[in-house]
Amino acid sequence: MSQAARAEAMADAFVRRLEARDLTVGIVGLGYVGVPLAEGFLAKGLRVVGYEPDAAKVAALAAGESYISHIDPVRVKLMAASGLFQPTTDPSSLAYADAILLCVPTPLDAHREPDLSFVEAATRTVAEHLRPGQLVALESTTYPGTSAEIVRPILEDVSGLASGVDFALAYSPEREDPGNIDFGATSTPKIVGADTAPERRMASALYGALTQVVEVADLKTAEAAKLTENIFRLVNIALVNELKVVFESLDIDIWQVIDAARTKPFGYMPFYPGPGLGGHCIGIDPFYLTWKARAHGEPTRFIELAGDVVTAMPARVVEATARALSDISGKAVNGARVLVVGLAYKKNVDDLRESPAIHVIRLLRERGAEVAYHDPFIPAAPDLAEHPEIAGMTSAAWAALSDYDAAVICTDHDGVDYAALAAAVPVVVDTRNALARAGVAAANARKA
Ligand SMILES: NC(=O)c1ccc[n+]([C@@H]2O[C@H](COP(=O)([O-])OP(=O)(O)OC[C@H]3O[C@@H](n4cnc5c(N)ncnc54)[C@H](O)[C@@H]3O)[C@@H](O)[C@H]2O)c1
Repeated sequence: MSQAARAEAMADAFVRRLEARDLTVGIVGLGYVGVPLAEGFLAKGLRVVGYEPDAAKVAALAAGESYISHIDPVRVKLMAASGLFQPTTDPSSLAYADAILLCVPTPLDAHREPDLSFVEAATRTVAEHLRPGQLVALESTTYPGTSAEIVRPILEDVSGLASGVDFALAYSPEREDPGNIDFGATSTPKIVGADTAPERRMASALYGALTQVVEVADLKTAEAAKLTENIFRLVNIALVNELKVVFESLDIDIWQVIDAARTKPFGYMPFYPGPGLGGHCIGIDPFYLTWKARAHGEPTRFIELAGDVVTAMPARVVEATARALSDISGKAVNGARVLVVGLAYKKNVDDLRESPAIHVIRLLRERGAEVAYHDPFIPAAPDLAEHPEIAGMTSAAWAALSDYDAAVICTDHDGVDYAALAAAVPVVVDTRNALARAGVAAANARKA
C-alpha cells in the first residue's frame, strides 16, 4: 500500500471508531485546560484517559473532587460518576487512547523566552507509548513552528513511526476562558490545523464531536491564529490602560468613556483597564511570537510596547494609593496598613499566576506599607518559587476591615461586599470600577 493510501486508511479507521463512539481520548496534563476538555469529551460519550504526573490532582479528580475553585465540584463528581473517566499518573495508559491531546504549560523562562520543557517532556512521554493509528494534537499555546519543529521530530525519533502515515499530528489551540459561564469546551469553536488532508480529517472529526470546527491549512497557521487572538487582547488592554492614564490627567472617567464608546454597534470592542496584566496567557503568549520573530530578524514593536505599558501599571496603582492616602487621610504609605482586595489575576477564579496584585503587594511593601490581602477564592497563597513575595500569606478576615488605613481593589470578584469595604476603610483605591458597578458612591474612594 502506498503511503498516501495508508494515511487514508488510518483516517478512515479513526473516523469509524469515532462514529461508533468506540474511541478513547487521552489528555496529557489535567490542569485548567485539561480538566474542562476532559469534561467536554465525557459529555459527548467518549472515554477519557487523563495522564497527569501530580498525584494529588489525580487523586482528587478520581474521587470526584474539584481542585480548581471555579470548576463546580458537581461537574467533577459527574465526570467521575460517568464511569468513562480514568485520571492516572501512569503514562502507559496513553497506549489505550486513540487520540492524545497535550495540555501542558508553556511559560516563559527567566530570560522571558519560551520554555518548551513541558511540551518536550510530555511529547517524549507520548512518543514512548505511541502506536500506529493514533492522533496526537498539541493544545498548548506556542509559537508557529513548534508542532513541526519540536513535537513531530520527538514523536518520530522516539517511536520510529512516521507522522502523516503511521500516526497523525495536529494542532488545535485551547480557547478555555476560566470562569466564563457563557462559553466552554463544547460551545467555543475549535481551530484545527494539520499538514496533510488525512491528518486534518482525523483531527476535525475528533474535535467536531466536541464542538464546531474551523479548519486551517496547516499546523503553523493554527499556532499563529491562537497567538493572534492573544496579541490582539494584549495590545488593546495596553491601549485602554494608556487611555486611562491620559483621561485621568484630564479628569475624565475612562469607565464612562468606554460605556459610551461601546454603544457603537460596529467597529469598536470594549476592553477595560485594571491594575496591570496577569494570567498564564495574555502576558506570556505574545512573547512567544516576539522570540520567533527575532529569530527571523523581524521586530515586534507593538507587542513589546504593549508589554511595557501594562508592566508599568502596578507602580501607577501604588502611586495613586500613596496620593489617596495623603489627600484623604493625611497619611504616608510608609507605615500604613493596606488591604489588597483580590489576589487572583481576574474575577471569580483562583488563578494567581502573573497576577498584577502580587506586584502591587511587593511595591507597597517596598514603600514601607504593611500589606494583607483578602480573596475569597484564595484562602492561602500557595508557595510558588516565582512569587516569593506572597509566600505564607493567608486571606485576611473580612470582619477586620477597620484595621486598615487603605484598601486597593485589584480584582473585582463577585460576592465581595464593596459597600461594607468603602464604609469601613478610610481610603479605597479602585482599579476595576467595582464600587460604581456595585452602586457604591463613596467620597473616600479613588479610581486608579
Ligand atoms: N489556563 C487558561 O486559561 C488557558 C487558556 C487557553 C490556553 N491555555 C494554554 O494551555 C496550556 C495549559 O495551560 P493550563 O492553564 O491548563 O496549565 P496548568 O498548569 O493548569 O495545567 C497543566 C498541567 O500539566 C501537567 N504537566 C506538567 N508537565 C507534564 C508532563 N510532562 N506530562 C503530563 N502533564 C504534565 C501539570 O502538572 C498541570 O497539571 C498552556 O499552553 C496555556 O498557555 C491556557
